[in-house]
Amino acid sequence: MSGKHSEKYLVTGGAGYVGSVVAAHLLAAGHQVTVLDDLSTGHRDLVPAGAAFTEGRVQDAARHLDASYDAVLHFAASSQVGESVTHPEKYWRNNVCGTLDLLTAMRDAGVRRLVFSSTAATYGEPTAVPLTETAPTAPTSPYGATKLAVDHMIAGECAAHGLAAVSLRYFNVAGAHGPHGERHVPETHLIPLVLQVALGRADAVRVHGENYPTPDGTCVRDYLHVADLAEAHLLALTAARPGRHLVCNLGNGTGFSVREVVETARKVTGHAIPCTTGPRRPGDPAVLVASADRARDLLGWRPTRTDLAGIIADAWDFARRDAAPTTP
Ligand SMILES: NC(=O)c1ccc[n+]([C@@H]2O[C@H](COP(=O)([O-])OP(=O)(O)OC[C@H]3O[C@@H](n4cnc5c(N)ncnc54)[C@H](O)[C@@H]3O)[C@@H](O)[C@H]2O)c1
Repeated sequence: MSGKHSEKYLVTGGAGYVGSVVAAHLLAAGHQVTVLDDLSTGHRDLVPAGAAFTEGRVQDAARHLDASYDAVLHFAASSQVGESVTHPEKYWRNNVCGTLDLLTAMRDAGVRRLVFSSTAATYGEPTAVPLTETAPTAPTSPYGATKLAVDHMIAGECAAHGLAAVSLRYFNVAGAHGPHGERHVPETHLIPLVLQVALGRADAVRVHGENYPTPDGTCVRDYLHVADLAEAHLLALTAARPGRHLVCNLGNGTGFSVREVVETARKVTGHAIPCTTGPRRPGDPAVLVASADRARDLLGWRPTRTDLAGIIADAWDFARRDAAPTTP
């Protein structure tokens, strides 16, 4: 728990994948949670029992925030990289304008602590791996650009108005936490896509490029268990200091290739999981692996669920539970 007492948090986007898992961890630590979510990509049933739920937009946060809140955890965003290329205006409006409205509402209500979901997509093509927070930021998608813009906006709010803020730059979030898991529509993340094939809901996994300069030719990514990620948020709430904007990468520091993910999923699920191969996708770097040294040093964060088979097994439990017909 942050401090010795129970605190009250507004969790934007808490009906989504990551926000619902973090909300569950905050509740388990004895805190009060209100979820604000417009259900644009979230699901009402993912909001953990024990959290208050308000269906509404971040843009209208001023209607819901008051001085009784100790902090805001801001997950609400549009986050499909491909869609951001075809509809960038949606991303600038929802992610940037939405966060600007949220920061104004927080200032007006006197809520002075924020944890923000930033992303590895703020960096773009890595010039060196593992990626540290001092790496150049040159996003290759409007999605990454909007998240970087928000990071800059938060830095200004801290410097000018004394906000205490931590931006957590997630790499590839994966796994599940009991009934809280990944249910994106459309799904673009590799592990749930692989598990949809195992469930018989798709015919094959599409591998985008097999000629990268990696050991097996497929892209390498840093998969981070969502429960480890959630623990970093609780630590960030404690580490936030007025006037300071801390930016921390969150990843395991270990990369797994697309082929390794598929092979491990075959072992975990016992299904064949056929693959087809297509061309590289533009803007997909060969290797994206985090240095999370800063999160370790400044937040005291220690990810413990780093085994790929364990991450996939938790995602598989969730996927099967989610696919099961509900009893009337
Ligand atoms: N999942 C990942 O691997 C990953 C990686 C890096 C960063 N992130 C970031 O983490 C956050 C959560 O990602 P996720 O995978 O849980 O996505 P998600 O789509 O499951 O959750 C986002 C939630 O925000 C809600 N939302 C969106 N716009 C809103 C608005 N204007 N007002 C109120 N609610 C709104 C959606 O309904 C949804 O419930 C996002 O900000 C995303 O950019 C995720």
